[in-house]
Amino acid sequence: QEFVEVLKKARGSHGLERHEVIVLLQARGEEVDALGRAADGVRAAFLGDEVHLRGIIEFSNYCRQNCLYCGLRRDNRKLRRYRLTPGEILATARKAAGLGLPTIVLQSGEDPHYTAPVLADIIRRLKGEVGVGAVTLSVGERSFEDYRLWREAGADRYLLKHETADAALFARLRPGTTLQDRLLRLKWLRELGYQVGSGNIVGLPGQSLETLAADILLMRELDVEMAGIGPFIPHPQTPLAKEPPGELELTLKVLAIARLLLPRAHLPATTALGTIHPAGRRLGLCFGANVIMPDTTPPPYRCYYQIYPGKAGMDDEMEATLVALKNMIHSLNRRVGRGPGHSPKIQGGM
Ligand code: 5AD
Ligand code: SF4
Repeated sequence: QEFVEVLKKARGSHGLERHEVIVLLQARGEEVDALGRAADGVRAAFLGDEVHLRGIIEFSNYCRQNCLYCGLRRDNRKLRRYRLTPGEILATARKAAGLGLPTIVLQSGEDPHYTAPVLADIIRRLKGEVGVGAVTLSVGERSFEDYRLWREAGADRYLLKHETADAALFARLRPGTTLQDRLLRLKWLRELGYQVGSGNIVGLPGQSLETLAADILLMRELDVEMAGIGPFIPHPQTPLAKEPPGELELTLKVLAIARLLLPRAHLPATTALGTIHPAGRRLGLCFGANVIMPDTTPPPYRCYYQIYPGKAGMDDEMEATLVALKNMIHSLNRRVGRGPGHSPKIQGGM
């Protein structure tokens, strides 16, 4: 009964208290279906049926950080490291554009090898020569000046997941970094006029429903344009190898609640979701997601971008992957988005 009332309140977009978010997170059985339907309804009402595709280019798997959950952590000596040259990045983006992917996400570990001016030049050429509709960066924590340079070069969006809103857990899982520093950067990115993306990992060891509620409320407080929500997947070459993975159902609940509280945000059906369950991305689209980020990294490198093992879409041909994705989207009576798919907040579509 309490569940039904809280769900009604969430639909009204009045915002929720932490204990109410927890009530929704505890949904079971048919309640989960009701939560999904509510989120799907909000998605349809505010964002329509378009599913935006963003080509992701994982251009370097070098990382100076040592996050306990991530296969790219610097102490993972078993991983073969690679870097794409600027020329390779541009060629990859050109190919993605040719395949009908109008926007690009440049993602890497925290790799100082790519200095701010070098990345700025790549961004400028992506927007200019290649004619990419929108460039999203996801290269971790850098200085205000770096972010400013990239913004001036034409970067539109920045993804910097807060990962977990529990400051103690954050410090434990991301040695040498703090939640406070992360949030400061999200504030900078906002100031610089980026469309800002955050997000969390669901099912991290030591995480509670309280933490997940705090994650969702933080994303609302930051009023993010994008939020990536995916399950934890243990990587064998990390200290968390033996921990259990995040659950599909819990991840879908977090996604659905995020949709209820952030009706206009772009929420991807994440690759991690597609990795823990064969229908994960499809289910994500039914629980409030409206974005998919197909991997466009050139195949010889793709298998070394091992944030977590078993990543979906590893050995597929790009063309075939896109056809399958489009079929999946159409089977849900949805359409592939056209154009850059900017946040409706930015387009003035309030
Ligand atoms: N399982 C799920 N997601 C992970 N990430 C890193 N390691 C893992 C893992 N083991 C996510 C982080 C990061 C993004 C690039 O990948 O949220 O922001
Ligand atoms: Fe590096 Fe990001 Fe992985 Fe942490 S999560 S080790 S910062 S790539």
